[in-house]
Amino acid sequence: MCGIVGYIGAKPASNYLLEGLFRLEYRGYDSAGIAVQSGDTIAVRKKTGRVGQLAELLKASPVTGTHGIGHTRWATHGQPSDTNSHPHTGGNGEVVLVHNGVIENYATLRSQLQELGYVFHSQTDTEVVAHLVAHQLEEELKLGSDPESNATYLRAVELTLKQLKGTYGLGVLFRDKPGLLIAARLGSPLVVGVGKDEHYLASDASPLVGYTDKVVYLNDHEIAMITANSLEILHRDTGSQTPHIRVLEQTASDTELGQFEHYMLKEIFEQPTSIENAFRGRLDDDEATARFGGLNLDPQELRRIDRIVLTACGTSWHAGLVGEYIIEEFARIPVEVEYASELRYRNPPMSERTMVFAITQSGETADTLAAMRECKRKGHPTLAICNVVGSSIAREADGGIYLHAGPEVGVASTKAFTSQVTVLTLLALFMGRIRHLSYPAGQRMIANLRKMPDKIRQTLECHNRVKEIARKYYTAENFLYLGRLHNFPVALEGALKLKEISYIHAEGYPAAEMKHGPIALVDEQTPSVFVVPRCQIYPKVISNMEEVRARRGPIIAIACEGDDKVAELADDVIYVPDVDEYLQPMVTSVPLQLLAYEIALLRGCNVDRPRNLAKSVTVE
Ligand code: F6R
Repeated sequence: MCGIVGYIGAKPASNYLLEGLFRLEYRGYDSAGIAVQSGDTIAVRKKTGRVGQLAELLKASPVTGTHGIGHTRWATHGQPSDTNSHPHTGGNGEVVLVHNGVIENYATLRSQLQELGYVFHSQTDTEVVAHLVAHQLEEELKLGSDPESNATYLRAVELTLKQLKGTYGLGVLFRDKPGLLIAARLGSPLVVGVGKDEHYLASDASPLVGYTDKVVYLNDHEIAMITANSLEILHRDTGSQTPHIRVLEQTASDTELGQFEHYMLKEIFEQPTSIENAFRGRLDDDEATARFGGLNLDPQELRRIDRIVLTACGTSWHAGLVGEYIIEEFARIPVEVEYASELRYRNPPMSERTMVFAITQSGETADTLAAMRECKRKGHPTLAICNVVGSSIAREADGGIYLHAGPEVGVASTKAFTSQVTVLTLLALFMGRIRHLSYPAGQRMIANLRKMPDKIRQTLECHNRVKEIARKYYTAENFLYLGRLHNFPVALEGALKLKEISYIHAEGYPAAEMKHGPIALVDEQTPSVFVVPRCQIYPKVISNMEEVRARRGPIIAIACEGDDKVAELADDVIYVPDVDEYLQPMVTSVPLQLLAYEIALLRGCNVDRPRNLAKSVTVE
């Protein structure tokens, strides 16, 4: 997490730095700061709190200069405070830098540097890097390196990086070398924007939109030496690289709020379109199947696959669980859904016919990236289901499927979830059709998928009803979310949404598991949200509702239009359109997103920037 920006050119640097930090705020919002260089003076302004507070500070105490770096922080080492905010200064001010990532051996390095006389002001791991670069620079100069040469400063950074264990995205300025910005990446994303006689730096492409559409993504172990009119990229092992310039397709309007009060609400209401974008151009009526451009596996290889592993974190993991049900049902291939944070360290037996999919909105989640690399290392075809084009996971995967959901800015994932489920349904159709699924069954799936945008539009009409229900329950301190089969992952996802943005304790369970423990939590103050559209085992879920009702637990139900049975049992019902069972998660998850949103608003929470969270989790 944490967001990094940098600028070097002829314009006042603080304009881009500040706007870039606003756009990257979703990556962390504990504190923010910038450093701007003019000649051999580097002015640092930093502050606990949001980027808006930094903007106030800059109004009162402006900085001038045409190159600089900036940072928005999600605290790892050291609590959020002005001192722990970035940028950090090394030596006697010779080096100023920003960092995203975690330096695992910082304690050892800190002691060594303290013995050498370096004085630490913060509790961060980053300050160690700043002092270490300053120290290596001093050593280089003592050895007679040319203080006028960029190579001297590059060498100081290279020698520093060799001593670091952990992950970093770094942007470094040197007091005595104005006009030079060095960036380095290992495990934390960085992208360089290429302009005319100017360069930009950012943790992802969003700050660059409107400034330049030419970008170079840095790879792990690469260092960028950046001046206003030159960009040199060096890889640790292979030396100088030709920068691979790509064209950015994002536009500024993609991230505008428009008529909506919050990004989360905007993104919930975008779902009819984002779902359509996920299947647009991918449905093949003639062959009754789905088509993907990026799988990069020939049909024979695909036919040999006898197991699929889906790996992800958080909401994306929930989408994977839905995918497990659908792929097993239609493609008859065993599927395992693994937490990426576990898979990266586990060693499950996986045959050579196992195909792995990393599911991720951001494409930057550290655990998902690591799990994917581990599977690749073992030789499995490893693909990505990913939203952010050009992200680390998208670039490192052997192939994959983009969601095309557009930028998801709200920290709580909403439209990415339904797009992931859509893509997994397409995958089930595709894998099914090269194996056991009949032509008419494929045609039916295609016809049903095409109806989904309208079904989601109808579902969104429940918004006012959800507002009423939220007003009734928003003071509760515990919620249970219960569903079965395809709607069990929806229950998990509903509980996660409520927890993360309203800070209410919520648990999701398969409804039948309730009697093995969670039922002890049921009382008059604990609402149970039952996801109970008509399905094969509908009567069983009704029995579970009876059990909660018998214990006076309030019941909110998500049910199919016209379901009177549920209306008799539940205190409150939100109706959704009737769709085939495997498509239900797309509709049933929508009222749960709205419920979490409305409850969080009533509790005065910041729905787009919930506490302690960040959109892109680039640390382990
Ligand atoms: C919850 C949420 C997180 C993410 C998780 C994985 O609303 O957003 O649980 O789903 O951090 O992120 P991605 O999908 O970017 O890998």
